Amino acid sequence: MAKFGKQEKSEKIKLEKGAYKRAFRVFKFMKPYQGIFIVGILFLILSSITTMGFPYLIGELFGTKNPSEISNSDWKNFDDTNVIMLFLLGIFIANAFFSFFRIYIFSIVTENTLRDVRNKAFDKLIHSPISFFDKNKVGELTSRIATDTNLLQEMLMTTLAEFIRQWLTIILSVIVIAYTSPRLSIIMLSIVPIVLVLVIIFGKRIKKISKNAQDSAAESNNILGEALMGIKNVKAFANEAFELMRYKKSTEQIKNLSIRGAVWRGLFAAFIILGLFGSISVVIWQGMIMVHSGELQMDEFIRFIFFTVFLGASFGGVGTMMGTIQKSIGATERLMDIVNQETEKNIKNTEYSNLKGEVTFENVSFHYETRANVEVLKNLNLEVKPGQSIAIVGASGAGKSTIASLLLRFYEPTGGTILFDGINAKQFNLQTLRSNMAIVPQEVILFGGSIKDNIAYGNVEASDSEILEAARNANAFNFINAFPEGFDTLVGDRGIQLSGGQKQRIAIARAVLKNPKILILDEATSALDSESEKLVQEALDRLMQGRTTFVIAHRLSTIKKADKIIVIEEGKLIESGTHDELIKTGGVYANLSAIQFG
Ligand SMILES: Nc1ncnc2c1ncn2[C@@H]1O[C@H](COP(=O)(O)OP(=O)(O)OP(=O)(O)O)[C@@H](O)[C@H]1O
Ligand SMILES: [Mg+2]
Repeated sequence: MAKFGKQEKSEKIKLEKGAYKRAFRVFKFMKPYQGIFIVGILFLILSSITTMGFPYLIGELFGTKNPSEISNSDWKNFDDTNVIMLFLLGIFIANAFFSFFRIYIFSIVTENTLRDVRNKAFDKLIHSPISFFDKNKVGELTSRIATDTNLLQEMLMTTLAEFIRQWLTIILSVIVIAYTSPRLSIIMLSIVPIVLVLVIIFGKRIKKISKNAQDSAAESNNILGEALMGIKNVKAFANEAFELMRYKKSTEQIKNLSIRGAVWRGLFAAFIILGLFGSISVVIWQGMIMVHSGELQMDEFIRFIFFTVFLGASFGGVGTMMGTIQKSIGATERLMDIVNQETEKNIKNTEYSNLKGEVTFENVSFHYETRANVEVLKNLNLEVKPGQSIAIVGASGAGKSTIASLLLRFYEPTGGTILFDGINAKQFNLQTLRSNMAIVPQEVILFGGSIKDNIAYGNVEASDSEILEAARNANAFNFINAFPEGFDTLVGDRGIQLSGGQKQRIAIARAVLKNPKILILDEATSALDSESEKLVQEALDRLMQGRTTFVIAHRLSTIKKADKIIVIEEGKLIESGTHDELIKTGGVYANLSAIQFG
């Protein structure tokens, strides 16, 4: 048992070490701003030291003499109140100067670093393989980046500076008080830090208990709400007594937790009075004894007290800061994990930039990383000549969309080869390859912006007249023009909502504008009524001319004309041919056709 416990502990420490190491990778991002950062740290140190000049000079102020007793009054004479006041003024001005530049410089370093981290994180994410997004939720990633960069900002801007400042204050204070009176320092240091640590622990405990009380209050409100909202249910089932019992149980719990919280709060108050005030009194009592015996000067003693107050405040500050630091390190670690994320494997090759549009699958097998035991595609062979259209038919879950994903190289086949114009897909640069393809997906996503921007996404360099032409070809021109603001109509979250068919036609216009060699239509008309489908289908037929087209559809009417139809069942190709050939063979397709065409 003991052995097990020990092992567990050492494992935990190891884990934390790794976390710190990973978080510290952020310093790589700060490196370009190293020089200015060192200047910032210098200003931080200077401002901390000048801050410490304040209690020091205040102590001196108490040691000044009556002006009549001062013989020669020059600027070095610390017996003169006016001289000390001038010095105080001097350090205030210096401090103001240092503090301003410290904040300014830290902000320059922080904001530059944050910009670089943000850009790098986005760069990495946008170049991450699709499989990464299968494993990580987009909502989580975005909120993680938002909150984690905030935490990182806070750490670089405030926490780091505060941490350094507090420790500097602690060290300087200890030096000053030890120098002022070693004996009183030992007395003070053996009481005050211990009391402060206990105060911090106490504070945490109370916070936890009051949170428990809040939780149980929320739960009890829940019971109340449920019972009253379902009052008809309660009465119909004659469950008044049951609900009352439930409620009584929870109010009893609130009472108990709250009283327990009050006991701790009471103990805390008693402890503060006893511990903190008590220990301060002991220090002052001992100090005064030393003052009376002449071992310590009054001004030295006052200086001692002031530095003790600074010490205590900094000590408490460091203690409460530990939580924030831990949180920031966690956040930085997560950000650095994103930044060090592996991106899609890509090559620079731009040799084959213009495809003819021939596509070959040779024994392609595939399974998703997240479900390694399910073979989605099994030894798939197919060949499409440039300009041909090929329809993929199969039950839901057969693997049709997976084929589209493999064409776009969202994933790499786990077996076999995909070839474009007879060249292994892996020999293409990803962007070059994809720039030769366009997909009209079933779920069209429009970006926040105008309709024009959304169409132009297919080719950001397109001219206005090309965009209008694309919209015409997609049968989208008329409905867009009917909007008061036409092509400048805003869509997406902040704009108007478009119907499914309208969105689909914008996606088609986008694909037209891209002018791809290979076109993929994944259920591009499935959600439409027959009127809209006819319009969209016309647009698609126009778009398909002169391109290799993959059409995925459940409605066979849309694929009858395809040069080749393949039927996929559980990832295997089971039938292949034209509509007429497949009808003649009388297999799965013929059956489906009989059902759909009656
Ligand atoms: N990202 C993914 N991660 C893991 N498994 C997936 C993923 N996408 C699809 N699958 C699985 O792969 C199989 C094939 O899915 P696919 O989307 O290719 O089917 P489909 O033929 O397009 O079906 P539908 O007609 O319903 O669109 C299914 O069993 C599905 O559960
Ligand atoms: Mg699909």
